[in-house]
Amino acid sequence: MNVLFIGYGRMGGALGDAWIKGGLVQRLSIVDPGLSADAAAGRYTRLHDVPAEQAFELIVLAVKPAYASSALAGLSDRQCSQATVVSVAAGVTEASLSDAVGQRCPVVRAMPNTPVLLGAGCTGLYAGAQFDATRKAVISRLFEAVGAAYWVDEEQQLDAVTAISGSGPAYYHLFSEALADAGVKLGLGAELARNLAAQTAFGAATVQHQAYADFTELRAAVTSPNGTTAAAIEVFESQRKLRELVEQATSAAHRRSMELSKEA
Ligand SMILES: NC(=O)c1ccc[n+]([C@@H]2O[C@H](COP(=O)([O-])OP(=O)(O)OC[C@H]3O[C@@H](n4cnc5c(N)ncnc54)[C@H](OP(=O)(O)O)[C@@H]3O)[C@@H](O)[C@H]2O)c1
Repeated sequence: MNVLFIGYGRMGGALGDAWIKGGLVQRLSIVDPGLSADAAAGRYTRLHDVPAEQAFELIVLAVKPAYASSALAGLSDRQCSQATVVSVAAGVTEASLSDAVGQRCPVVRAMPNTPVLLGAGCTGLYAGAQFDATRKAVISRLFEAVGAAYWVDEEQQLDAVTAISGSGPAYYHLFSEALADAGVKLGLGAELARNLAAQTAFGAATVQHQAYADFTELRAAVTSPNGTTAAAIEVFESQRKLRELVEQATSAAHRRSMELSKEA
């Protein structure tokens, strides 16, 4: 597949490097004024500008949201002729991306999260109704190379994806921080408490991921009646306080995502 990246920073680089490494993409061209010649040497074609005569099957837009529309605006008819545009720019709507390419090629919005950088990401994908199943399968495969990928039916659902998986890694880091701090209060050294929290998060995530069982069942399986876990869960669940907090926090993230989308 002949792929062009417009922007090759943290997110663009994570995707492009993974696709090349996984053999999903053979040719990769990059337009990014910030990319050093050394960083691109030998592996990619580094372009100063998008060559007007060249057609691409995939154009990945991975610049900051404020530059998204202007970065697409200069594409020629030839460049757009066979292309699908995939934008990872947070909050930039399909309508404004489609306008920026003059409605000449289909547009997909992707909302990845930071674990994509380690191949353990989670990406929400959206495309308009006219987007065909073959192209969808290709895009799914590309994002599955860096974790899991899920399509949403309505564009607005990407704001919910942002509130759950986009911002989600930080919620888990906060919980680990609180757990490690609690360990120190219980008399453990800071490093040990930190390692216990991190390894426990990893173990719990691995169980959730492998079993794909109901979360309530997984919790019940490790909660003996009247045991230590039950004592802690009773506190978390008292008046559903933790659940309410999670609802309020994710609502705040959802609201903010909608606001940013209007500003983008
Ligand atoms: N990082 C994440 O975890 C994450 C998660 C979800 C979505 N995203 C989205 O991914 C996009 C990129 O984020 P990032 O973290 O990868 O940012 P980044 O590291 O700053 O990368 C953006 C790159 O694009 C370059 N660039 C700027 N204007 C350009 C233009 N007109 N044409 C070509 N290249 C241009 C920048 O060069 P200069 O540095 O020289 O300006 C930079 O190298 C954002 O829209 C963000 O919303 C990121």
